Formats: sequence, C-alpha cells, structure tokens
Amino acid sequence: MKNKAFKRYTVTSALPYANGPLHIGHLAGCYIPSDIYVRYLRSRERDVAYVCGSDEHGVAITIKAKKEGVSPQEVVDRYHEMMKESFREFGISFDHYSRTSAKIHHETASEFFKDLYQKGEFLEQTTQQYFDEEAGQFLADRYIEGTCPKCGHDGAYGDQCEKCGSSLSPTELINPKSKLSGSTPVLKETKHWFLDLARYTEFLKNWILVDHASDWKNNVLGQCRSWLEAGDGLQARSMTRDMDWGIPVPVEGAEGKVLYVWFDAPIGYISSTKEWAAEKGIDWEPYWKDEDTKLVHFIGKDNIVFHCIIFPAILKTHGGYVLPDNVPANEFLNLEGDKISTSRNWAVWLHEYLQDFPGKQDVLRYVLTANAPETKDNDFTWKDFQSRNNSELVAIFGNFVNRAVVLTHKFFEGKVPALGQLEQIDKGVLEEMAAFPEKIASSIERYRFREALSFVMDFARMGNKYLADTEPWKAIKTDPERTGTVLNIALNIAANLALVAEPFLPFTAGKMYGMLGLEGLRWEKAGSADLLKSGISIQQATLLFDKIEDQVVEAQVNKLLEAKKKNEMENAQAAPMKDIITYDDFAKLDMRVVKVLTVEPMPKSKKLLKLTVDTGLGQRTVLSGVAEHFKPEELIGKQVVMLINLAPRKMMGIDSEGMILMAEDRDGSLKLLQPHQTVFNGATIS
Ligand code: MF3
Ligand code: ZN
Repeated sequence: MKNKAFKRYTVTSALPYANGPLHIGHLAGCYIPSDIYVRYLRSRERDVAYVCGSDEHGVAITIKAKKEGVSPQEVVDRYHEMMKESFREFGISFDHYSRTSAKIHHETASEFFKDLYQKGEFLEQTTQQYFDEEAGQFLADRYIEGTCPKCGHDGAYGDQCEKCGSSLSPTELINPKSKLSGSTPVLKETKHWFLDLARYTEFLKNWILVDHASDWKNNVLGQCRSWLEAGDGLQARSMTRDMDWGIPVPVEGAEGKVLYVWFDAPIGYISSTKEWAAEKGIDWEPYWKDEDTKLVHFIGKDNIVFHCIIFPAILKTHGGYVLPDNVPANEFLNLEGDKISTSRNWAVWLHEYLQDFPGKQDVLRYVLTANAPETKDNDFTWKDFQSRNNSELVAIFGNFVNRAVVLTHKFFEGKVPALGQLEQIDKGVLEEMAAFPEKIASSIERYRFREALSFVMDFARMGNKYLADTEPWKAIKTDPERTGTVLNIALNIAANLALVAEPFLPFTAGKMYGMLGLEGLRWEKAGSADLLKSGISIQQATLLFDKIEDQVVEAQVNKLLEAKKKNEMENAQAAPMKDIITYDDFAKLDMRVVKVLTVEPMPKSKKLLKLTVDTGLGQRTVLSGVAEHFKPEELIGKQVVMLINLAPRKMMGIDSEGMILMAEDRDGSLKLLQPHQTVFNGATIS
C-alpha cells in the first residue's frame, strides 16, 4: 500500500458544521494540515482536488436555530458565508468549498442511500426511541442529554460523551433529559434503517489493521482497533433520523424522516468534487473512482470512526469508489489549559483574531503547526504564541531575510552580486541547502507537519548562522568580492526559504518572492543555488514579522476570561430545589439582622475574615469565608443576615459562633443580603 504510485490526489478536510464561527481548534485540527499538504503537492505539480464545504444538516444546526429563535436555513446561510470567508482569509486554498444543502449533494446522497437500500444492505428495524411529549418530537443525537454510563459526566449527548469520547446510544444515558423542553422523555416506537456494520468487520480489519498497519498514524489505528476488536463487535447504526431538517429518506414509508447527518456529510466530499469538476469542465469520476487516485481525509479525532469505519463501509458496499489511502487525524487543541468550547465561549475565533492581528495570518498558521496536536492533545497559550512569534519568526526567520536583503541594498545597490571563489563554509552551506527540501518533503508526505516546519526553521537558522559566521558587514571593508559571494549565497538561501516555507506560510512566501523579484517557484527547483542570478535587481526589504508585546497577549487572555464569565452569567441555571421540609424544620433556624462591627483578615488564611457583629443579644465572633470577595471596609458598619443558632465551630483556633448568609451569583461572586431599610440589630427573620 505504501509505495504505490498515484496519478492524482483527492484531498478532503472535514466539513465543518455551519452552526458557529470557526476557531483555532478547527484550523489546527484539519484545515492547516490539509492546506500544507495540498500546497506542497501543487508545488510538485501533482494533480489535486482539494475539496470541502459546510455541513448544514443534523441536530447541531437545529439546536442552534432553536436557541436563536430563527430558522435552520438562516443559521446555515449565515455561517456558511462566514466560514468560507475565514478560510479564504487564512489562505486555506480549497479548490472548491460547497455546502450540503446544494441540490447536487441532495441528489448524490439520495442516490447512495437508494443504492444501499436496493442491495438490501439496511436492516429495517422498529425500535423504541426517546420522544419529547411536550415538544411532540423524537429526540435524535444531541437533542438528548444525560449522565454518561461510562464516565459519569453529566452533559453527555445521546450519541456521544465528549468527556470520555465513548460513542453512546440515547437509551444508555442515565437520567436522560430533552434539550428541547427539559422534560424527561418517554420511549416510543419508530422505524429506522440501520447499517449492519458487523458485516464489514473482516474487510475493515484487513484493510486497516493489516494493509495500513504501518502507514496510518498510531492514534488513528488505536481508535480503529478499539472499535474493531471490541468484545461485542461493531453495532448496527441507524442511518436515518426522525427530523424535518435534512435530506428526506428516499424510500417508501419514510415520511418525516431524514438521512442521518453522518450518512450524508462525508458524501459531501463527492458532491463538492462534482461541483468543482463541472465548473472546470472536467470529469469528476477519476478523482473518486480510479485506482490510481490517492484519497486522503484530514479530520479531527472525534471523526475517526465515521471516516475509517462507516464511510468506507458505505463506499465499499456501493462499489466503484476508491477507499482512503490515509486518514491523518489530529488530536485536540486545548486553549490555555481548558477544552475549546463554542457553547462555553472558550475559543479564539478566527474573525476576531483577524481584527486583533490584521495581516498576521501566518503567525497563527505557524504557531498552530509548530504546536500541532499531531500525536496527542496540545495546548495553545497566548504566551507561547508570543514567544514563537518573537523568538522564532522575528528573531530567526524575519531577521535572516531582512539582513540578506538590506545588506544587498547597502553594499550592492540592490543587485544580486556575483558568486566568486567558494570557501569551505560556502560549500558546506550549499550542500546543506541541497539536502533540506528532501527532508521537508519526506515529513510532509508522512503527514508530520510539525517536523517538516521545524526543518524549515532549521533552514532559516542555517541562513542566520551563515551570515553570523561570514560577517559580510565586516568583510565589505577589506574584500567586496568576498562579501558579494556571501550575499549571493544568502539571497539564494532566502529564495529557497520562500519556496519551502510556502506551504506553511503562504502570505510570507508571497512577500519574499515580491522582495526578491521572483514569481512563485516550484518544488523541483528547491535546493538549487541559482534561483537568483547575479545582476538581477531586488526590491527593498519589507517587514515580514514584528514583535508582539506583553500587553497585547495579556489583553487576549483577559478577553478570553471576560467572554467566559459573560457566558457563564448568561447560561447559568438556578440550582434544583432541595427536598421539601416542614414548617417546623424551618422554624428551627434562628436568623437575625446583625450589624458588622469589626473585620480583620485571618493571618495565614486566604479565604477567612474574622468578624465581630452585634446580634442584639450581645457581640459574637464569626469567621466567614469571604476574604476573596470583600475587603474589610466593604463590610464594616453593614447590616447583614446571620444564622445565630448554628452550633459553634472551631476554625484556626477560633470559635465561629454563627454564619453570615449571602447570595452566590452565577459567576461565583458573593453578594450581601441586607434589609432594604435599617432595622434594629437582632430583628428576627421569618
Ligand atoms: N461536521 C462534522 C464535525 O464538525 C464533520 C463532518 S466531516 C464529514 O464534526 F465527513 F462528514 F464531512
Ligand atoms: Zn463519558
């Protein structure tokens, strides 16, 4: 499988749900890696179709629509445009970006379903599914939430627990609740069409675990193995849903049912290719049907089962299609130590990044690749972003290119000087330069983009070191010819750097080509020492990267924290009611209005304040865990509510004789409870 010669490439990246803007997790997961791969292939003049589109069906969309009180169509129209624009801005160079609401997609997906249906591949089963009686609707996938039976996580969805990654069926959830009405759903019979995955086990085992055992990534193989070797085997999965948003199930007796979004979405790759080919006036079929086409799916790890097991089973059964040669899935990118979450607003949104860092698309591309979650989950932090920009892009890459160009203007009027006698150091550098492209290419072809990028940086480092060792700024005083040789070589290193960096940093490479007076170069030229011929004029240096200051990244961290807090305030729900008590239970509580007389911090405690209060029955000492919420002067002199008959408790050697009552706000901050007018100290509360 590994060394097959391919004639053309079909490269896909996961169709993002059109239910929100794109964030850095999307870019890092599959769009930057696929774009690097494709730009590299194009540079090698390979025949490539790079396709994607918006995933506009499924519960992810209808839930968002309901939340906003608009139609699903409005949601997908808005986000389709927005995502398309973000991809364009970040240089994600799809040949075609389609959407699953396109007519051609509805037709293609329906054709697939009918084909499998006619072949008798589906198990038609009537089963009990959860139904929300208040909303009058069956609850597919994310419409239902409950406690995960595997890990105990409270917000597990009907199809999947995002905490532990288990795939679930709604009936496995403990304490299921409808997302629509919050009510407890009931079970009701409904008919669906299931793909009997067990039938494909042998084929899948051979194809993945044997044929691709040595070229697929370990994280991907690991997940496939756990599916294929699970004790109870592969379970049949329903390919239809009771919903009114999606592609109608194209068979008799399926009114009110649509295709499961994970049935139609991957077929979107095919529809997108069809659209692209039609626009170009070429035939789409070779890109999906010829054995010498290399199909590569770039995805995030939550999509592995769909791309390695379900979609291949569908393609195989339909027949006539190639299967993916590789599915280089990335793990997840976290943000400042916490899982990226659209619903919790814990994300760096691409459209906001562009406003805050205009023109710095390549910086983000760089950081997300250098720190890509290729083999394990990784963390994006603003500090790391800043330091990679300042100490790598500015100090190494930008600095080298700038010196080579500026010195050429200073000493040679902006003309590439002639290459004279070569010294040992020059020969060494030229040899290294000739070897770099192959190293970078080999890493890219094995989907190791981090490693490939580190070689690109090593190459820039080599250029920097060459200038530092040869010191042309000194040599010019005694030996202009020698200086010319050094700068000729340095400029050729810069031209090569533009060429090998282009897949990773396309905007920067474009600027470098501009400076050096070159048109985009092809990979076959990489490593050559005469990309820039002597005598050619180059342009003035333009700034490639500039330093990012502390306050800029601090502001980003604050923005994140603010957004998260705002979101918590908007979404927090009141705690459920406690068990019913009798009046007698209540009457046992002796609550009074008391006045705070003195407040002191407790030495060695971050949380506790020591208060003395006038209870009307005498003075009391109370320790209260509010030091992080109030300064002493905010409490002194205030009337507050206190439970005075709580058994005294010793804390840090002091008896606390009661409890001050406060309200806890959604963000965890505490607010005083006070009578709206002053009352006498010791007034009872009833
Ligand atoms: N929309 C899905 C997600 O965001 C991915 C769909 S990938 C495709 O997780 F294969 F279905 F296209
Ligand atoms: Zn779980």
